[in-house]
Amino acid sequence: MIVCVCRRVSDREITRHARAGMGFDEIQWELGVATQCGRCENCARDLVAQCNAASPVAALRNESTLACACAQGGSCACAA
Ligand code: FES
Repeated sequence: MIVCVCRRVSDREITRHARAGMGFDEIQWELGVATQCGRCENCARDLVAQCNAASPVAALRNESTLACACAQGGSCACAA
């Protein structure tokens, strides 16, 4: 699903970066999400927060090998 229409950024791209431990600001810089009209910002922030909450160690370590809870059979809105 496209989250950011202006920059054509999908939920998968956002969650992939979030699972790698990136925060919203880093993802915004990397992908350009929420840099034009801004309507997608809340949705993008929610995705990042849910992934980071599911894998707080990954968020702290900035590791790309740890996955969000949805990839481990848990529940998460990331729907990877
Ligand atoms: S929809 Fe993301 S900046 Fe417009």
